[in-house]
Amino acid sequence: MSLEKPASERKSRSRLERKLTVLKLGGSVITVKENPKTPNIQAIQRLANEIIRAKIRNLIVVHGGGSFGHPLADQYSIKEGFKKKTQIEGFSLTHQAMLELNKLVVDAFIRQGIPAFAISPSSCIITEAGRIKIFYNSPLAKLLAMGCVPVLFGDAILDTEIGFTILSGDQLVSALATRFNADKIVLGVDVDGLYPRDPKTGSSKGLIEQITLRKLKNMMVDIGRAKTVDVTGGMLGKISELIPAITCDVQALIVNASKQDNVYKALKGETVVGTLIRKK
Ligand code: IPE
Repeated sequence: MSLEKPASERKSRSRLERKLTVLKLGGSVITVKENPKTPNIQAIQRLANEIIRAKIRNLIVVHGGGSFGHPLADQYSIKEGFKKKTQIEGFSLTHQAMLELNKLVVDAFIRQGIPAFAISPSSCIITEAGRIKIFYNSPLAKLLAMGCVPVLFGDAILDTEIGFTILSGDQLVSALATRFNADKIVLGVDVDGLYPRDPKTGSSKGLIEQITLRKLKNMMVDIGRAKTVDVTGGMLGKISELIPAITCDVQALIVNASKQDNVYKALKGETVVGTLIRKK
């Protein structure tokens, strides 16, 4: 991944504390995944309240697409790249749907007193065959240095090889954590954590509370995929996207963000039901 590092950015980064948390709010948590473009306002407000109560400094939030981004991205095959002109409408519509959801999230955050600031990934990131290639992150670094909470999202994004694609919130989380020296990723999903098999398939063998990267890689093949339409790869995709950050010593904690206070506890570092993934 080649990332720009202008002098101004290096300066503002050096002022940052090293302790940074990147929080992902899964689309299944903040939207009603079965109904197109339906937000879960109650969940968004509850999560905003949990974040403000946790009083965390240096926080970046990334949210997923759920019923806003995924159905449109799927309908117009945006992830697969630009193949025919009719997709251009879908590329715009997918991005617009994500902007709509982002507005709901950021509005709720601001109402709770979180100094949230929306950043569109497609305005500062370009991918190459689906992987982040260029990331102009000076504005983000400056926002963090100012005490703001940047709020990004999985997005319809321009791509140097395939024209456009979908950048998942999970790939973004990993890139942000690595880029900004985060010590922790909190992945808020709609299940309690990792199971030897996806709990949505019905056959769970008990929650994995802690796992090392090596063991995770060995068992990844056993993790089932989520059943609902998800153009960015279900649970298996989510976890594999975190591997680059975990390799850089960032801890990843997967918690059920649909359950009251799990995100609060995860942000505070309190004991919480979930799966902790560590490098060693
Ligand atoms: C997908 O982001 C964004 C779009 C489809 C535009 P994610 O893949 O991170 O979304 P969720 O969390 O799975 O819904």
